Amino acid sequence: SHCGGMLSNKTDGPRRGRSFDSINKYYEEKQLNNELNKSTFNNADEHQDKILPSKREHAAITFSLKNEVGNLVKALKLFQENQVNLLHIESRKSRRSNSELEVLVDCDSERETLKEIIQLLKKQTSTVTMDSPEKLCFAEDDFSEEPWFPRKISDLDKCANRVLMYGSALDADHPGFKDNVYRKRRKYFADLAMNYKHGDPIPRVEFTEEEVRTWGVVFRELNKLYPSHACREYLRNLPLLSQHCGYREDNIPQLEDVSRFLKERTGFTIRPVAGYLSPRDFLAGLAFRVFHCTQYVRHSSAPLYTPEPDTCHELLGHVPLLAEPSFAQFSQELGLASLGASDDAVQKLATCYFFTVEFGLCKQEGKLRAYGAGLLSSISELQHALSGSAKILPFEPKATCRQECLITTFQEVYFMSESFEEAKIRMREFAKTIRRPFTVRYNPYTQSVCVLKDMPSINSVVEELRHELDIVGDALHRLNNHLGI
Ligand SMILES: [Fe+2]
Repeated sequence: SHCGGMLSNKTDGPRRGRSFDSINKYYEEKQLNNELNKSTFNNADEHQDKILPSKREHAAITFSLKNEVGNLVKALKLFQENQVNLLHIESRKSRRSNSELEVLVDCDSERETLKEIIQLLKKQTSTVTMDSPEKLCFAEDDFSEEPWFPRKISDLDKCANRVLMYGSALDADHPGFKDNVYRKRRKYFADLAMNYKHGDPIPRVEFTEEEVRTWGVVFRELNKLYPSHACREYLRNLPLLSQHCGYREDNIPQLEDVSRFLKERTGFTIRPVAGYLSPRDFLAGLAFRVFHCTQYVRHSSAPLYTPEPDTCHELLGHVPLLAEPSFAQFSQELGLASLGASDDAVQKLATCYFFTVEFGLCKQEGKLRAYGAGLLSSISELQHALSGSAKILPFEPKATCRQECLITTFQEVYFMSESFEEAKIRMREFAKTIRRPFTVRYNPYTQSVCVLKDMPSINSVVEELRHELDIVGDALHRLNNHLGI
């Protein structure tokens, strides 16, 4: 397992002297120190013979505390008051917050008492976890140490509505700012998205003539550039979208049709969204192969420019690539890496998303091609990125994640991958460096995310893999027979 953090301690032997500092320095309140020693530590030996043979068990409890005088003693007193033997204590600076301290306590006690202590600890500390030798699967509500994130696809209902800008609340420099009719129309689209729930069909929209005209300009101009600018995967999927989803100059495709098409191709589906989502919420959607799409059309006064995503950007920029299995996989892995990650890690992943899914370039048959949706939906930036005068660096997540994302101007630099496969491998390596005390796995049957934090959940993955390998073995066997080997 590559998971860092405290939970991994449970399988790799003595903790003493590794990442935890000695706790002694926190025992400066001498009086309490003595008291603790007297009633708790010394008792451990005395009681061991008498008490251990009963239903006592050994457990390690970890919790975090604000690094303030007296906090630790207060927490440890809970053990004393419940007559729990403390066998070993360690502490270290918290990895989550500088002002916090993580404490690990080894103790012996009855399970019920331990549960009680956990409940009491929860009242004074931010995170509490318990680990016992059987590595039991604890009830979720008893000991949960992960931050909240969507566990099943319908959980996206809880985070898809936290949009940063939507409806009629347009910025002053937005082309539609002074247009009341446009603002009203935007409110209509915002309401559609806000009322959407997982499982609903995406409402079909009757687009106005003006909207279709705007789309038409974008569609026509971009289609002139695609043969020489878009990557091979894009060019392969675009004709299918004309065939199955009504991609035409005089027709704005319906998100519902596109969602059904994608579902068949790669399992991706679309959710309507009212505007910008936070990076965390947006990336969380990708983990479930859900792509959040705006449904409104940019303002007609500037068909070739939009300061925010609109349905032209989604349909022409994102959708053709979401129909590509290797790209779909890449996108989902980016999303899975973000679940429960720290704000800092999410920011880095979002920047990688920005310079790949939105502005990525690749090399095909020796020529530079675009696969980023921000490029494939912007005539001027698409030309600029491939003009030979733009700065282009290899996509290397460790460096790319530090680049600044620009929203209203061309990017200062673009990042190139040889292929999606290569980008995926680099992202995977990068994702492993992100600290998260657990590993997640997507279950496509239930469309849910499983947290692999105990032996039963890991064993069930092993079972599945065993079965998959059986299938591979069987297929190879038949193939050999067929070839007469
Ligand atoms: Fe986008």
